[in-house]
Amino acid sequence: MDKIKVGIIGTGFIGAVHVDALRRLGFVDIVALAEANQELAQKKAADFMIPRAYGNFPDLIHDPDVQVVHNCTPNNLHLSINTQIIEAGKHIFSEKPLGMNRDESQKMLELAKKHHIVHGVNFNYRMYPLVQDMKWKVQQGELGDIRIVHGSYLQDWLFYDTDYNWRIEPEISGKTRAIGDIGSHWCDLAQTITGLKISEVFADFSTVIPFRKKSQNTETFCENQDLAAYEEKEVQTEDWAGVLIHFENGAKGLFSVSEVCAGRKCYFNIEVNGSKKTYFWNQEEGDRMWVGHRSGPNAVIMRDPHQLNAGCRRYTFAPGGHPEGWLDTFKNNIQAFYTFLQEGKNIEQEKPDFATFYDGYDIACIVDAIAESHEKGIWVKVIR
Ligand SMILES: NC(=O)c1ccc[n+]([C@@H]2O[C@H](COP(=O)([O-])OP(=O)(O)OC[C@H]3O[C@@H](n4cnc5c(N)ncnc54)[C@H](O)[C@@H]3O)[C@@H](O)[C@H]2O)c1
Repeated sequence: MDKIKVGIIGTGFIGAVHVDALRRLGFVDIVALAEANQELAQKKAADFMIPRAYGNFPDLIHDPDVQVVHNCTPNNLHLSINTQIIEAGKHIFSEKPLGMNRDESQKMLELAKKHHIVHGVNFNYRMYPLVQDMKWKVQQGELGDIRIVHGSYLQDWLFYDTDYNWRIEPEISGKTRAIGDIGSHWCDLAQTITGLKISEVFADFSTVIPFRKKSQNTETFCENQDLAAYEEKEVQTEDWAGVLIHFENGAKGLFSVSEVCAGRKCYFNIEVNGSKKTYFWNQEEGDRMWVGHRSGPNAVIMRDPHQLNAGCRRYTFAPGGHPEGWLDTFKNNIQAFYTFLQEGKNIEQEKPDFATFYDGYDIACIVDAIAESHEKGIWVKVIR
């Protein structure tokens, strides 16, 4: 059987992770990449040993050998690039958030449906084996009725006023920053585990650092070393947000997100309190999950392929005690996407484990409602 041929647009921080994950599958080949210009494309192609380098993304999309395109560019390019990929009839795996807002995301979803392609959005955290196991356990009723869902996603990579990145600029990142960038992951995780939709939100944002120094080096997660020449920029988006949430079944909860909490790197956690017990999971120790009981001892479950339910075992490989983590979630997500594609499945007939443009649109609706709630200081219903 021929390998599936893939092209990647954008090979910065996350594009490099896609390269790594794709190469672990075995049944796909990365045949081309596209970058912001030809010089960069050729440098990246040489670094990654990818045969074709395009300095202009439409050339990659229209390369007749490319069957699937990954879009790993900044958010403001998602609509135009994704539209061209879909109109070319190619399957698409896009980075999150799907678009800059609800309207853009809806356009992409409608177009993807019309062209009958397989579409994925990289909400990778749902692909931790223990998250898939938690989802399964909740569906089996092991937790009982879901009562409260809460947690946070805290980082410190924008802690200093010298930390700068395209995410600071709303024209590139979107109207929200912490919420759109990492709050979107939290909402996807909460909805994936519980199987419930967030129906109403009440939010409060804070721009903790009102002015930032923008210099040349603004790569994602890189410390800014070049302070000889910088531009002082007023910050318009939130460094921190707190959000109260209601779910469709009447359950309630809250979450906070931050990019300025010193010492918190990728502190992404969720706790689901049910009528029988509690599950708590933290991404930084993603191979473990805490189970809380009112009567009887609490427990910590270690990821172990033999102890996960059968449906989740395809998302874990290493024996218990041999840690799996963040990079493995990319492999799991991409593997689920390409297996679905290879088996000729149809998103309209079967809901996959990976997030599709339906989920990308759904999360965009929540993010927009959160932004509106902060602006107006009121509870806002999520309109889907
Ligand atoms: N799933 C996750 O956990 C996760 C993590 C990080 C980033 N992301 C998402 O991935 C996307 C990229 O983020 P990043 O942190 O990798 O950004 P980045 O700045 O590190 O990389 C972006 C890349 O896109 C390239 N690019 C810019 N314009 C281009 C163009 N016109 N044609 C081709 N390439 C172009 C840049 O040169 C750069 O290599 C964002 O949408 C972000 O939200 C997702």
